[in-house]
Amino acid sequence: MNNKQKKFKEQISSILGTDAECIHLYWKGRVALYALLKAAGIKNGDEVIIPGFTCVVVPNAVIYTGAIPVYVDIQRTTLNPSFEDIRAAVTPKTRVIILQNTFGLSSGLEFITTWAKSNGILTFEDCTHGFGGFYQGKPNGTFCDAAFFSTQWNKPFSTGIGGFSAVLNDELQARLTETDKSLIQPGRFENILLFLLIKSRKYLLSPGTYYFLRNFYRLLSKLNLTIGSSSGAELKDPVIPDSYFKAMSKTQVNEGIHEIPLLADVLALRKKNAGLFTQILAQHGKYHVIPELHRNHCFLKYPVLVSDKKKFEESARRQGIESGDWFVSPIHPVEKDFEKWLLSSIKIPVASDISRYIMNLPADTRHPERVIDFIEKNLDMFL
Ligand SMILES: Cc1ncc(COP(=O)(O)O)c(C=O)c1O
Repeated sequence: MNNKQKKFKEQISSILGTDAECIHLYWKGRVALYALLKAAGIKNGDEVIIPGFTCVVVPNAVIYTGAIPVYVDIQRTTLNPSFEDIRAAVTPKTRVIILQNTFGLSSGLEFITTWAKSNGILTFEDCTHGFGGFYQGKPNGTFCDAAFFSTQWNKPFSTGIGGFSAVLNDELQARLTETDKSLIQPGRFENILLFLLIKSRKYLLSPGTYYFLRNFYRLLSKLNLTIGSSSGAELKDPVIPDSYFKAMSKTQVNEGIHEIPLLADVLALRKKNAGLFTQILAQHGKYHVIPELHRNHCFLKYPVLVSDKKKFEESARRQGIESGDWFVSPIHPVEKDFEKWLLSSIKIPVASDISRYIMNLPADTRHPERVIDFIEKNLDMFL
């Protein structure tokens, strides 16, 4: 480990309140999850419980190990599965339960983790949306045996793409250190390209260019013409891509060291804006994040339900509001052939339904009054 990696790990662990040694750095958050599953000895035929409202790269990582992802439906209010539904999905083959900070929000962690521990099942926290937030007074990522995080473009803080894990289970920590020995090191070209992408984003991204750049980047990623969030192949079939198991690059570490000190301000802004959006939506009887979920959460994005997602995005674009379209399906952004991911949408009716109506508002905006104005002018679109 070089000095920069050590510094970055110390910065992360000081926010989590853990030892720096339990932090492991990767090319992407999904690689951190895959490494944890491998270190836990997950293999053919094992079952891993995941929320039926996630990013496709989560079931991908499970399937790459030979295990079976078992999807559990979500609750409309929390956008996460309930303890009862998770418990009902457990079988003698269940080895891991993955609990997610959806948009930064978690629920029921204390019940699920206690119950899983007493039943010999590992728990991993998917904190890809939740770094820096808290749940019941404890930092996100410190409830389970391990947690994985993302530092991809629009995550709590960004290193372009990237991810890390925090391991709180000693046995898993020892095994993960071994697993990490087979990580591939990113090449010079990847370091340079990522550096250029990060710089271009900083200079080019604005409310006026947001939709164009987002769609252009998604297209280039799909065609494998840039370092993408997900390659076309990952969204087509759950087959492990070449060079998947990759370490974090120098570019990412340098960017992380620079970005992480800025996190506290953005988190405070997100929390404040989320409070304002809840107030206005609740006032008009619209779907909003319930007050119990507000305390110290991270609020990566503010989820709303709308009658017509396309029309909503068009209106937002016209009014210069950077809306987002997560999740277009229970395994975002895949929209068909769910059976390839061993998913039957019939078994997750709430997540399937919510996917048809969910959009999000920018929680980190410096101009919340413009978002509030947008909400007020388009009230009929909000459910
Ligand atoms: C819920 C969830 N889990 C996992 C991931 C994977 O993170 P990464 O893109 O860093 O691999 C994402 C990515 O956006 C996500 O939204």
